[in-house]
Amino acid sequence: KKVAVGVDIGGTNSAYGLVDEQGNILSEGVFPTRNFPDSDLYIEELYIGIQNLLKTAGEEYELIGVGIGAPNGNFYKGTIEFAPNLPWKGTVNLVEKMKRFFPTLPVIVTNDANAAAVGEMVYGGARGMKDFLVVTLGTGLGSGFVANGQLIYGHDGFAGELGHVTVSHTGRVCGCGRKGCLETYVSATGIKRTIFKLMADSIEDSEFRHVTFTDLTAEMITKAALNGDPLAIEAYEYTGMLLGRALADAVSITSPEAIFLFGGLAKAGKYIFEPTKKYMEMNMMPIFRNKVKLLPSGIDGKNAAVLGASALAWQHVQNKG
Ligand code: BGC
Ligand code: NA
Ligand code: ZN
Repeated sequence: KKVAVGVDIGGTNSAYGLVDEQGNILSEGVFPTRNFPDSDLYIEELYIGIQNLLKTAGEEYELIGVGIGAPNGNFYKGTIEFAPNLPWKGTVNLVEKMKRFFPTLPVIVTNDANAAAVGEMVYGGARGMKDFLVVTLGTGLGSGFVANGQLIYGHDGFAGELGHVTVSHTGRVCGCGRKGCLETYVSATGIKRTIFKLMADSIEDSEFRHVTFTDLTAEMITKAALNGDPLAIEAYEYTGMLLGRALADAVSITSPEAIFLFGGLAKAGKYIFEPTKKYMEMNMMPIFRNKVKLLPSGIDGKNAAVLGASALAWQHVQNKG
């Protein structure tokens, strides 16, 4: 059976899977990205993981290609360049490194949020849509813009870096070297920073008082919000406000039919969707109002970026065949 490998390199975890042409993930694995501060050792770990999937498979699989979604991944160059949320500094030549292990296979690299957008377009809620936007709210904030049925790559291949539009020029320090980027507020890390800011500004008791920054997770904040914790709800309200404003601006640029919210923070449901929608509508140009759908991923429980990355590998072989 023919399968493609789909990989989603995340700031916290890396997920990979064997995917058939219909988009079924036949087997998958995951490992912590941060355990591999050396990119060569990281690639080796990924290779071993893929080999294990092949070995433990009930049937004989034939690999047709590898698709990878990565923060700051560049489709044109096959590289990762200066990713703020990855342990590797400078430029990592992903395609070249993967080719050492898979010399005969096509290896396709794209931005992780772009991969999620492809997944949504091919297998998810964006099927049949020509203009939409995917926003991933994980360790960082990623985005994939699809316009006229095509992923926007731009001249240098880095188009769609919504996480690094500026919210405030004097704002929080960002991993990209600048200040006040959207992702320093709107991401799993961003909302943790907001919780600590809110605690510093008030003496009110909170269940987060005894948690260190490292131990605090976005899931804990989401859980607290769902349990009615005022600080957690306020943090989500603030996060949604900044996200909604940024989305209103993004709408002006590509006029999407829908915007899909993915990733850890999107799991907070109404706590993130309601304020985001409210501030998005409030800040939009009147011509766009009440037209743009704000939706959760249409790919239930599966990793859209793994699927999308594998779809790029499939598309590559189909175009050649
Ligand atoms: C990077 C993006 C990436 C996003 C999510 C951002 O910091 O600049 O390229 O898509 O994080 O991983
Ligand atoms: Na992108
Ligand atoms: Zn930044």
